[in-house]
Amino acid sequence: MKMPNMIDAKKRNNDKINYVNYNVSLDKFGEGKKFFVRTYGCQMNEHDSEKIKGMLKSVGYTECDSVDNADIVILNTCAIRENAHDKVFGFLGVLKHIKDTKNPGLLIGICGCMSQEKVVVDEILSKYKYVDFVCGTHNLDNLLNIIKDKIDNNTQQIEVLSYEGDVVEGVPVVRDSIYSAWVDIQYGCDKFCTYCIVPYTRGKQRSRTKESIIEEVKKLKKDGYKEVTLLGQNVNAYGKDLYNDYNLANLLSDVSDTGIERIRFVTSHPWDFTEKMVDIIASRDNIMPYIHLPLQSGSNKILKLMNRRYTKEEYLKLYNSIRSKVKNSSVTTDIIVGFPGETEEDFEDTIDVVKQVNFEQIFMFIYSRRVGTRADKMENQIPEEIKHKRFDRLKQVFEESVEENNKKYVGTTQKILVEGHSKNNQDMLTGRTDTNKVVIFEGPEELIGKIINIKIVSEHKWYLKGEV
Ligand code: 5AD
Ligand code: SF4
Repeated sequence: MKMPNMIDAKKRNNDKINYVNYNVSLDKFGEGKKFFVRTYGCQMNEHDSEKIKGMLKSVGYTECDSVDNADIVILNTCAIRENAHDKVFGFLGVLKHIKDTKNPGLLIGICGCMSQEKVVVDEILSKYKYVDFVCGTHNLDNLLNIIKDKIDNNTQQIEVLSYEGDVVEGVPVVRDSIYSAWVDIQYGCDKFCTYCIVPYTRGKQRSRTKESIIEEVKKLKKDGYKEVTLLGQNVNAYGKDLYNDYNLANLLSDVSDTGIERIRFVTSHPWDFTEKMVDIIASRDNIMPYIHLPLQSGSNKILKLMNRRYTKEEYLKLYNSIRSKVKNSSVTTDIIVGFPGETEEDFEDTIDVVKQVNFEQIFMFIYSRRVGTRADKMENQIPEEIKHKRFDRLKQVFEESVEENNKKYVGTTQKILVEGHSKNNQDMLTGRTDTNKVVIFEGPEELIGKIINIKIVSEHKWYLKGEV
């Protein structure tokens, strides 16, 4: 058994990062069996789930779409807020019921960020003995060995490493889409924003080599992919740990040169976002003019307490530079309300930025205490009731601007990558604009996977309607 340790997880040494190749080769022990993977959280987790599926398929498992038919269920978890944690434990209850009543041989496993939290693994050890294995984020490539050990020995397997992490190349992957692909460019984070658990669950900032990223994009293009999204907790810090003079601006330019039709990237941190990066985005047609730029708070006092390393004024300067240089650009953001010490005045500063800035979308979060982070130990934690009231107020201010903002699309022609049928209406197709806005429209199935022109005819708050 290897248990997580939050103190080790926080350490940052100067040890060299190991670049290793995936080398697990096992017999087809999953032949004839089915798996079900449920993903919580961010795009990096979605891509990790594609790797989990790839590994399971490599030993013969096939995918099924219901837990009722599965022989193995893996929950790829998120630790960012308490509600993600609650959802996982709620779902474990459902799985226990299936194991007790219908399928005693069902294997249940936990991967992802929650497995890196000591409080979570302690809870599993004491109260969730029916969980068969826990595999951490740093040793995901060892998942198949962990499952095999469980099957061979029939004992609960806990294998979580708390260290800075390696870069593992060549993990098998089964992608969910055949048009749009996730591409990791860096792992981990060294920013240590005081509210955030990620630097503890994902380790030190580690960049993949430019060669492996570009090779992956070239291969995706050859396989018919139209869009890549470059992934990292802080993509703007790409390269800092690996190169002296090669950063995200250089990488974007090299990825753009591959000729892939659409390039996106998430998540950006304003602190590492240089003017050179803005210029590259502005100058390349295949780099989408869409930037997710988390603000978190509009109050300089709170930004400082959050350790965000920028002021409201610096954020606005960067925002204005993006909007003025990048044609037809759109910026979305994340905002946390109710951070410890946030006064009415601080909250008003956030509202003020939201009113000044034309955010295409705001992902709003109620501050959630995370064990081990600095903010969890801060005094002046905000009562739940006030947090919720502020959340509702922010939501209202934002929603008032949505319609106005959407109107600019009506009557225009937009390029859309058609992704498939709309989830809510199977008769309609759906896709996204350059700026990542969802559009639904009627059209023949052959359009799926193509980039086409759509005329926008109306706006409906969270999506636009168009015509081919
Ligand atoms: N509480 C609330 N929101 C958080 N986020 C990160 N940590 C917390 C937390 N403890 C939000 C931030 C981040 C997004 C992915 O999640 O806004 O940008
Ligand atoms: Fe968390 Fe801050 Fe790193 Fe983003 S930049 S992952 S919010 S610590």
